[in-house]
Amino acid sequence: MSHHDENPRGAAAASDPPGKAGSAAAPAASNGDRRPAGAAIRTQCQSEHDREVPEVDLMSPLALRGVTLRNRIAMSPMCMYSAHDGFADDFHLVHLGSRAVGGAGLVVVEATAITAEGRISPGDTGIWKDEHIEPLARIARFVERQGAVPGIQLAHAGRKASCDAPWKGGGSLKTAAAGGWPVVGPSPLPFYAGDPVPVPLSETDIEAYVEAWGAAARRALAAGFKVIELHAAHGYLMHEFLSPLSNHRTDGYGGSLENRMRFPLEVARRLREAIPPELPLFVRISATDWADGGWDVEQSIILCRELKSLGVDLVDVSSGGTAPDARIPVARGYQVPFARRIREEAHIRTGGVGLITDPQYADEIITSGQADLVFIGRELLREPYWALKAQQALGMEPEWPIQYGYAVKRRAR
Ligand SMILES: Cc1cc2nc3c(=O)[nH]c(=O)nc-3n(C[C@H](O)[C@H](O)[C@H](O)COP(=O)(O)O)c2cc1C
Repeated sequence: MSHHDENPRGAAAASDPPGKAGSAAAPAASNGDRRPAGAAIRTQCQSEHDREVPEVDLMSPLALRGVTLRNRIAMSPMCMYSAHDGFADDFHLVHLGSRAVGGAGLVVVEATAITAEGRISPGDTGIWKDEHIEPLARIARFVERQGAVPGIQLAHAGRKASCDAPWKGGGSLKTAAAGGWPVVGPSPLPFYAGDPVPVPLSETDIEAYVEAWGAAARRALAAGFKVIELHAAHGYLMHEFLSPLSNHRTDGYGGSLENRMRFPLEVARRLREAIPPELPLFVRISATDWADGGWDVEQSIILCRELKSLGVDLVDVSSGGTAPDARIPVARGYQVPFARRIREEAHIRTGGVGLITDPQYADEIITSGQADLVFIGRELLREPYWALKAQQALGMEPEWPIQYGYAVKRRAR
């Protein structure tokens, strides 16, 4: 397993919590009129006996607090390792902007470091100083003007920080001379034997990090992002505290499940305080370490109940990233069952992610109530217009950007 997020074994997943269909989160606004004759049509007055008619599908809007996504397709956060001193630039604008033009409902900016040493690589985007705000604001403005909702993932890589870009091998940058920096974590346990030993955070450090997350959220809001996602997955700092494999502490932040959850819950609480009530907060988790004695779905369900009580709106359900030797049964939608269980048992909206490439399958995840949102990663790298093409594949007229629509609708015969 690499240090990096892009490994499919470090992948993630999200829809309306059970029993909430027809609520604000599942607006009655039907797009049935865009469906071909014979396709499922939603009605305003569903009763128990006609449950086979889906009330929401992939193209249904999703209302979260005061924000409405135009459909259930999210661009999953993906590091591009192309920033300089944390600054996003034209590449990020065009990269993210083209997925907004391409019809996604939510476009999430890659893992963006809350402190300089929280970057996975020197090329990660950052949000640790006010100067980072303006280039991010340009992205948020453009994404929003295209009808998508701009989101950003706030991250700290913990012991998996200080690595090279994947196309340079992705290995740990072990010394300052190599361009690396000291890494931190819950305990002095490196990810790979031979990686630099993380410096364990003191309780005072933890307090400072909680504040750093709060300051990062303030900057993200100033940049105009409407959805903030806390990265608590893939073996990075938050996940390192959750997992008994990486957290061997004996103080109030280690040992029992309650103690291991303490820091991530403090951060979630701080973020919720910083974010106005009309904007949603997401948390990405790894539902399991896929390793004996590690973090697992039962602990995830307990964590997600706590997150819900703190006002988290959606859990983006990924897996893996803590145990380098984990054996992960990677296959189409392999993490979606975790999103379904968490949705059902923690009664929180979830996002499904991981090898979701086919529009019909993505639609089925939503219509069958396994998740409220699908996060698409690599397939959106392959095809920025995936969401528009999905509309076509599902028998709808694509909602082209206004600049294109009048021109492309008529084809030569
Ligand atoms: C190039 C690349 C970069 C990634 N960076 C991030 C990241 O910044 N944050 C994150 O949570 N996941 C990251 N991931 C994981 C994706 O968001 C997604 O969960 C994973 O690729 C599985 O979805 P997919 O099969 O649709 O690609 C990355 C994946 C790729 C391919």
